[in-house]
Amino acid sequence: MNTTHTLNESAVHDSTDRKSAIHESAVHHVQGSAAYIDDMALTEGTLHAAPVLSTVACGQVRALDLSACLQAPGVRGVVTAADIVGDPVLAAYTHDEPIFASTRVSHVGQVMALVLADTHQQALHATRLARIDVAAEPPVLDARTALQQQSFVLPPVHVRSGDTEAAWAQAPHQLAGQLEIGGQEHFYLEAQIAYAVPQGQQQWLVHSSTQHPGEVQHWVAHALGLPLHAVRVVCRRMGGGFGGKETQGGHLAVWAAVAAHKMKGPVKMRLDRGDDMLITGKRHPFSHDYQAAYDAQGQLLGLRSVQMAHCGHSADLSGPVADRAIFHTDNAYFLPAADITSYRCKTNTQSHTAYRGFGGPQGVLLIETVMGDIARALHLDPLDVRLRNLYGVEDRHTTPYGMRVEDNILHPLMTRLADDCHYRARRAALAEWNAQHTVIQRGMALTPVKFGISFTATHFNQAGALVSVFTDGSVLVNHGGTEMGQGLHTKVCGVVAQVFGLSLAQVRISASDTDKVANASATAASSGTDLNGRAAQTAALSVRSNLAQCLAQLDGCTPEEVVFANAQVSTPHTTRSFVQAVQLAYNQRVQLWSDGFYATPKIHYDRNTLTGRPFYYFAYGAACSEVAIDTLTGEYRLLRVDILHDVGQSLNPAIDVGQIEGGFVQGLGWLTTEELVYNSAGVLQTKGASTYKIPTAADVPEHFAVSLWPEANREDTVGRSKAVGEPPFMLAISVYEALREAISAARGDNSAVQLDAPATPERVLHALKRP
Ligand code: MTE
Ligand code: MOS
Repeated sequence: MNTTHTLNESAVHDSTDRKSAIHESAVHHVQGSAAYIDDMALTEGTLHAAPVLSTVACGQVRALDLSACLQAPGVRGVVTAADIVGDPVLAAYTHDEPIFASTRVSHVGQVMALVLADTHQQALHATRLARIDVAAEPPVLDARTALQQQSFVLPPVHVRSGDTEAAWAQAPHQLAGQLEIGGQEHFYLEAQIAYAVPQGQQQWLVHSSTQHPGEVQHWVAHALGLPLHAVRVVCRRMGGGFGGKETQGGHLAVWAAVAAHKMKGPVKMRLDRGDDMLITGKRHPFSHDYQAAYDAQGQLLGLRSVQMAHCGHSADLSGPVADRAIFHTDNAYFLPAADITSYRCKTNTQSHTAYRGFGGPQGVLLIETVMGDIARALHLDPLDVRLRNLYGVEDRHTTPYGMRVEDNILHPLMTRLADDCHYRARRAALAEWNAQHTVIQRGMALTPVKFGISFTATHFNQAGALVSVFTDGSVLVNHGGTEMGQGLHTKVCGVVAQVFGLSLAQVRISASDTDKVANASATAASSGTDLNGRAAQTAALSVRSNLAQCLAQLDGCTPEEVVFANAQVSTPHTTRSFVQAVQLAYNQRVQLWSDGFYATPKIHYDRNTLTGRPFYYFAYGAACSEVAIDTLTGEYRLLRVDILHDVGQSLNPAIDVGQIEGGFVQGLGWLTTEELVYNSAGVLQTKGASTYKIPTAADVPEHFAVSLWPEANREDTVGRSKAVGEPPFMLAISVYEALREAISAARGDNSAVQLDAPATPERVLHALKRP
């Protein structure tokens, strides 16, 4: 692998050892000594819970007979909806999801009850003895059918801008199509897990693998009928979340807590992979109907889009996910007139949820396919059509939702990547190659991404942190964010270390804990570092200012003259080690710990009209991918990928490049090999690694070059960095577009390429047939 990255030299700070510091737990990840919840020593008397699942997608429950389960070896009890002391409906935002299905079932895999046993295996075996009697009804299994039946989890949303009537009246060209986009299993390595430990006096400790401890706290308290302060939720790390533990970790915590309440002792619940895939929600599949009007140069005049989000049986996060799809239907392009209708379709499947990009990818893929089809219809280079439609060309800056794109670097970024990877020369060479060969055909595409950073729910854009300096000079940081492998804790420690002029080794992070930082938002929307990094920086600055004031008084200088660098604190008169400075201040009774709070400025938007400034800034990137397809079998290979991505002034280039590579490869899986297959009864057929194919190391192209755009964030973020967690996911759309280029070359005509996602070899083979 040929991985390179550019370093902006001006970004190198004084304590350089943290610039590309390895992940704070890297060594322990590799050694197997980083503890996950399943590794925890169990409190005596801990019972293990396993779920009884609905085998029917939709219907009225006639009977649920668990008597045989109770007779099985090791079984201590069962738990159903009747055992819930608080609200039997989950405290989810839309309040539409029962904790346990009781009178009706609404998807295969819905949890109806739990079996508690001495061991995980005993509990699991006993669940198979449950007898479920359901009067089955025909399930709704796709979004189009749901729309026909007006089956929705939330009301539709419309966004209109410009005059589409006029656009169509004047447009010399039009196209129309449909695009089906499949879902995606999160496939975190650590499956969902929670461990609920009653503390006595109506107090609860819950270890939860969750991106949102605060919400788990809320859900558990609600189910137990307790105030929030009675429930403490802790998460040291997750073995991957990818959005799948933004809400869905909460279900496990609630189930474990309800069981622990009934059994009057600790309960641990861990899902096996197959059960996890049957129970938990995935990326929303989308069905798109669209029409585009454009001129002879390929400039878009108008877009009409009907988006059908396949939400599953309850709302979960479907509202904001479908909103974000709307917000990213423009991707990088100015839409002079747009008319978008978004349906939030209710189906009899798992309740689909957050997944890296949070609906954004489903919007971006649509407009990118439109760009590709316009270019092919006009015999133009798709890169030229994309460049022509970018924001910023001819003073076109405003999105359909009324936000001005102020920090636009799309044109220079895309042209720089095109130059660096020799796009033009390679495209010419490819055309020649394709003309000379028949079986193997090649394709290449360069696509951009522009991703809005901030939670669209404006109130989530706040964070808190605690920084404690101990008398030996060691520093402990705690913030409301969670670690799922993305390196948030490493970045936040780096920010704090820089404030004190310390090395990373002197700064430690403790587990995310609702007892330490109250009301923390989910670690999501890629904003973990923006929010928590800033809050921790504020806390550290306040301790530093206390230290500086104390030393300034002692040495007779101003606090501004006190310098923190290289583990030393210097005044114009004296240089002390950091430890000496801390001990001096402690003896003077100076506060050496502080909280910090941050709320993102500038953002606002109207939830009803979906207009305003939902995003603080945009993160940009572009990728150029080249593929070769075998036109006899539809099989293909990804040959080369070049990425130029914007992370602002990087806080940690190694971690940022890791996020870009990982995000790209996960996007590659979504668009190529990861296919969720359900049978006509709504049973997921691909519920394990043997049938559901996530990308492996072998799918990474031999040439995979990642470069960082050398410019700081123009908005005032921590270290002028930019969020990186989700945006690179959408760079994989370049592979999808490259496949469509190769298919088009093989067909030798310029008709629109109908190719649904994921573009499995079967679908590619099918698409090779001329329409
Ligand atoms: N990287 C790893 N290794 N594991 C993960 O679970 N989740 C992604 C992304 N990168 C994820 C990851 C998602 S969906 C988001 S929103 C961000 O990380 C969240 O973390 P951040 O806000 O700190 O970037
Ligand atoms: Mo990420 S989908 O916002 O957890």
